[in-house]
Amino acid sequence: MSAAEDIRRLVVAAVLENEPMSGHTTLGVGGPADVFIEVGTEDDLAALMGFISRAGLPWMVIGDGANLLVSDKGIRGVVISLAGEFEKVDVRPPIVRAGASARISAVADAAAENDLSGLEGVGTVPGTVGGAVVMNAGTHRGYIGEVVENVSVVTEAGEKRLLLHEECGFTYRGSRFQTDHSLIIAGVTFHLRPGDGAAIQRHLEEVRRRRVESQPQGKSAGCFFKNPPNDSAGRLIESAGGKGLREGGAVVSDIHANFIINDGSATAADLRSLAERVRRLVREKHGVELEYEVRIAGEW
Ligand code: EPU
Repeated sequence: MSAAEDIRRLVVAAVLENEPMSGHTTLGVGGPADVFIEVGTEDDLAALMGFISRAGLPWMVIGDGANLLVSDKGIRGVVISLAGEFEKVDVRPPIVRAGASARISAVADAAAENDLSGLEGVGTVPGTVGGAVVMNAGTHRGYIGEVVENVSVVTEAGEKRLLLHEECGFTYRGSRFQTDHSLIIAGVTFHLRPGDGAAIQRHLEEVRRRRVESQPQGKSAGCFFKNPPNDSAGRLIESAGGKGLREGGAVVSDIHANFIINDGSATAADLRSLAERVRRLVREKHGVELEYEVRIAGEW
């Protein structure tokens, strides 16, 4: 019996075989996942992980695919997408609890509606709560890690655990979850402080409007590279002459050089080889080694 058939008997959720990842990533590229599963509750996720670890299958969890470059050959093993209960947001001032798949912008809006401050820095960034915690996403107005009280996780072995803030290892654009791949973020509890909801909402709208103006709107994964300490990857790429570089259907945006856009015809290989060209260029011109911010996944 195939792994997909075993999993179908175990979890009441969507189980798809050979599911193209191009439909699950904002870059719009990526070959098939052997098995693609949508799970709706923490208990189902724990049961699924217990099965996966006993069967020794490779696995990965995706958020909304906004920061993910999947290879053209696709992903061997099981790709897990969190839906249902994982999309819920519950506000009990000053506490906000959100499932890992809730959009961080929607959580920030809900906080503002309840006159709660602390998520306005990250509330303008695309992506899910889980993805934002993994990346410790945010802006100069604040990073998500600063307001995380605890994170509920399901372990690779299928156990449910609660990690306190100090166990999450938050750093600039980083957290424990980037290196400890045995933990799946299921939900996050934020401890916020009283604020002026209307002013926060105005700020969120203003930054979102500016973002639309200063960042390209095509198929992308947001910023491709991390900003090096005290510098901007976009500035470095632009001044090295990177804007407009092209590799097949992949192009460095003319609007913001840290965006690599799929013009509609790009393959994952186009995007990756253009990204490597950009890194070489910045290394040669500036002596700076750019690090990927996008997560690179699949069989290359
Ligand atoms: N710049 C250039 N050329 C470019 C792009 C930027 O010279 O092509 C210069 C800008 O003029 C500015 C500086 O670089 O002086 C910084 O640019 P920007 O304000 O656009 O911010 P950023 O550092 O490039 C960061 C985040 C973005 C986030 C913005 C706004 C990183 C890697 N990126 O970009 O996040 O939207 O601030 O808050 O930290 C993302 O998470 O995917 C993302 C794009």
